[in-house]
Amino acid sequence: MSILSGKKIILGITGGIAAYKCVEFARALTQAGAKVRVVMTDAAKAFVTPMTLQAVSHYPVHDDLFDPEAEAAMGHIQLARWADAVVVAPASADFIARLIHGRSNDLLSTLCLATNAPLVVAPAMNQQMWTNAATRANLTQLAQRGVTVCGPASGIQACGDVGPGRMLEPPELLTHLENIFTPKLLAGTRVLVTAGPTREPFDPVRYLSNYSSGKMGYAMAAAAAAAGAEVVLVSGPVALEAPVGTRQVKVETALEMLAAVMQEVKSCQLFISTAAVADYRFEEVADSKHKKAQDNLQLNLMPNPDILAQVASLPNPPMTIGFAAETDNVLAAARTKLKTKKIDMIVANQVGIPDQGFDSDTNIVTLISQEGEQAFPPMLKTQLARELINYFSERLR
Ligand SMILES: Cc1cc2nc3c(=O)[nH]c(=O)nc-3n(C[C@H](O)[C@H](O)[C@H](O)COP(=O)(O)O)c2cc1C
Repeated sequence: MSILSGKKIILGITGGIAAYKCVEFARALTQAGAKVRVVMTDAAKAFVTPMTLQAVSHYPVHDDLFDPEAEAAMGHIQLARWADAVVVAPASADFIARLIHGRSNDLLSTLCLATNAPLVVAPAMNQQMWTNAATRANLTQLAQRGVTVCGPASGIQACGDVGPGRMLEPPELLTHLENIFTPKLLAGTRVLVTAGPTREPFDPVRYLSNYSSGKMGYAMAAAAAAAGAEVVLVSGPVALEAPVGTRQVKVETALEMLAAVMQEVKSCQLFISTAAVADYRFEEVADSKHKKAQDNLQLNLMPNPDILAQVASLPNPPMTIGFAAETDNVLAAARTKLKTKKIDMIVANQVGIPDQGFDSDTNIVTLISQEGEQAFPPMLKTQLARELINYFSERLR
């Protein structure tokens, strides 16, 4: 179940091209179980219709401060009190300026002034408007006042410019909102997560690797950040964006991952090793591409360092969690790893079958510690990550 289930969200839409993204965002909110009330400025209605937003939010859109029917019962104040969070997306440069000056010249700005719910804004505008000194100063002040500013992203804009000012995509915005409601169980904690595969080169164009997608590790990093931790994500090569609120360190080989982990781990209280580190690397790495020949090719492999065991054997180690991806005798192999690597807990998961382990969005795992074993039912990796982070933070405390 989403953390947004049952949450009362006011979605404020202002007049910008990115307003079209709000249809998808409103849909994502309702699908997550949130109760959504849409409030549109007059300018917003030039970009998307209230009818569309009514259809996706399952509720009539509010757009008039002076609606006699609603105001018979002080509608704007009721709405402001009703909300668990107010999200303005897209937030136009003009609306942001109005927020800064405490204006209340339409329904949405009045609601923002009258609510004590958390306020989230997702700015969206032309890159020149975004870099303008007035907008910069306004954004700095908004953040100082405790408003959560999400984005913007950089890239090609509707007007043809390239640069910062694109509204975040709805899934990313949803993550920001979920984070607001996530209990900050790891506040003040520094967490190091490794994720993805490593690549062990053989020559400049070939390498040895594995099928790890990084999805579980990235979900763990996202869940730890949502729980208020300062998160460093040491990642092998994957096709994923760094989760909101994490610092990503990109590596390729096991030796690079070891160096990055040892650099970062000293100030961490929790180390979560989800990376599928290659057990071996080539003894020799050629400087130029190896040419094809008719005879057999012999390549010598040498063992890579055991990063998890090295962290666990530090003089003052963090709480250390391993992930064991196995194809056979999964639990027995994981129990052995727990002992030989001297780590605190291990998450055993079977790989090599559909919908579990590498590259799937779901996982079925068993958490093994000295205290016992807990099997988790099949669930999305994002959900599993939240449950595991809750469990680890309880143990940390
Ligand atoms: C075609 C068009 C696109 C616009 N896109 C944006 C935009 O992306 N961001 C922005 O801040 N303003 C944009 N504007 C300007 C706003 O619509 C204008 O400042 C308006 O007063 C904002 O009103 P509101 O904040 O009450 O919604 C655009 C205007 C037009 C005509």
